[in-house]
Amino acid sequence: MLARLQTFSLVGIDAVPVDVEVDVSAGGLPATVLVGMPDAAIRESTHRVARAMVNSGFNRPNDRIVVNLAPAELPKQAATFDLPITLGILAGSGQFSSQRLQDYAVVGELSLEGSTRPARGVLSIAMAAACRRRERLLKGVVVPTANATEAAVVEGIDVIPVSSLAEAVGFFSGDLQIAPAPPRVAEWFDRFATYDVDFADVRGQEAAKRALCVAAAGGHNCLMVGPPGGGKTMLAKRVPTILPALSAAESIETTRIYSALGLLQPGQPLLATRPFRAPHHTISEAGLVGGRSVPMPGEISLAHNGVLFLDELPEFHRRTLEVLRQPLEDGAVTISRVKQTTRFPADFMLVAALNPCPCGYRGDPRRQCQCTAPHVEKYMGKISGPLLDRIDIHLEVPAVPFRELASKRSGTSSGQLREAVLAARLRQAERFGACGTHSNARMTSRQIREHCRLDQPAAELLRAAVADLGLSARAHDKVLRVARTVADLDASDAMGAAHISEAINYRLLDRGLWQ
Ligand SMILES: Nc1ncnc2c1ncn2[C@@H]1O[C@H](COP(=O)(O)OP(=O)(O)OP(=O)(O)O)[C@@H](O)[C@H]1O
Ligand SMILES: [Mg+2]
Repeated sequence: MLARLQTFSLVGIDAVPVDVEVDVSAGGLPATVLVGMPDAAIRESTHRVARAMVNSGFNRPNDRIVVNLAPAELPKQAATFDLPITLGILAGSGQFSSQRLQDYAVVGELSLEGSTRPARGVLSIAMAAACRRRERLLKGVVVPTANATEAAVVEGIDVIPVSSLAEAVGFFSGDLQIAPAPPRVAEWFDRFATYDVDFADVRGQEAAKRALCVAAAGGHNCLMVGPPGGGKTMLAKRVPTILPALSAAESIETTRIYSALGLLQPGQPLLATRPFRAPHHTISEAGLVGGRSVPMPGEISLAHNGVLFLDELPEFHRRTLEVLRQPLEDGAVTISRVKQTTRFPADFMLVAALNPCPCGYRGDPRRQCQCTAPHVEKYMGKISGPLLDRIDIHLEVPAVPFRELASKRSGTSSGQLREAVLAARLRQAERFGACGTHSNARMTSRQIREHCRLDQPAAELLRAAVADLGLSARAHDKVLRVARTVADLDASDAMGAAHISEAINYRLLDRGLWQ
């Protein structure tokens, strides 16, 4: 007898529909044959499937079983085929019959005793299932109980949780009624949409907070330079807290990536805050941007809609950093491999940090710097030029004086900064409308000419800066973009000398102060 079921395979972070056909026929040697490009993990599943069937009280047919996974050319590599294959064998050998097999897709790994195990990428699977429901090809999707809340985030599809093979058979044969898992997106957002850090925790450093506020307001990448222990890491960790709240659509985009990599925390099926990723400087190229033989997302995609923090920037391999150029421009990364080309979202704000010299104390009035000029030059020269080109704001984070550290007065909080960021972002949304640019940082040269008109003193100041500091044409445009954001924070359409002057201040490295 032939049984047909629908399931999904994860390709990168996308779920693709797969048909499972199972033919159980008497005659020939008893064996299970898998066809349709299953990888080793799926081949192994035949042993699990056999034990799960017997341990759940069903018969393992003593016949020839052929399992076909179609389309054949699609690489298939997850263990989520256990449950559909087992159900196919049981239906194909007449142990239950069901009309529902056409209406519900099935995913899930099985343990030897027949209980379901959580699978990776169930959010993407539910999204793909919802598409098929709109095409009237499906009513719902049967998933392991542990994944039900994650799948139920997607609207417009019935998510049926099953904790074991026996429950799945009960559901399909109609002996067991299982209610679809209720969507609880609003509840997850209420519960998880708060950060456990706040800018109020940082004593002093008001100038750095202001610079980070400008960066967050205009979507500018930024770089912090300062001595060890000055609070760079502490400040960077708090940048997500002043960005606009994560929208439901953004949350699903980012959660999908964590789900595909199996990185969702148990009990938290949805990311409700912006991610903060701080990969170590020894990270490989593939770890940072994604890769492996079958492409999987890397750190920059895990930072999608949030912040990527590169601490100790000069310690990263130059080549590793240079692969960031394309994603920083496009907000996505494209990975080509022999088998396939994949595109992963990677729209993040870059925050980098470094010490001013190898010993870390250059320019610190309280400590003697041990480094010679060539040492410093070599250290700074390790930062990739093309990456530096994509950073608009350089800020100095000096050591905090004891008086400020000991002060009881808490400084500017994340709430205050976020309010300013939101107002400035609103002005940008009105300015750019639907033209594809969303932030000042992404303004094209033409938009700079249109939106950054300077009054006489401002133009004079910029001219002097270009001449005296030797700012390049690129740095000149960066100053204008940042000054536009400073003016937006000031609720001003006009751009004056104060706005330009603050923006010039954020060109620390161009000003040659550390060379
Ligand atoms: N402004 C500050 N207010 C309160 N605590 C601070 C401040 N600056 C530093 N600290 C304390 O010092 C610790 C070290 O700071 P942090 O790790 O952010 O420094 P850093 O600049 O990143 O240093 P490094 O260059 O060594 O990485 C923090 O965990 C915090 O406890
Ligand atoms: Mg640090």
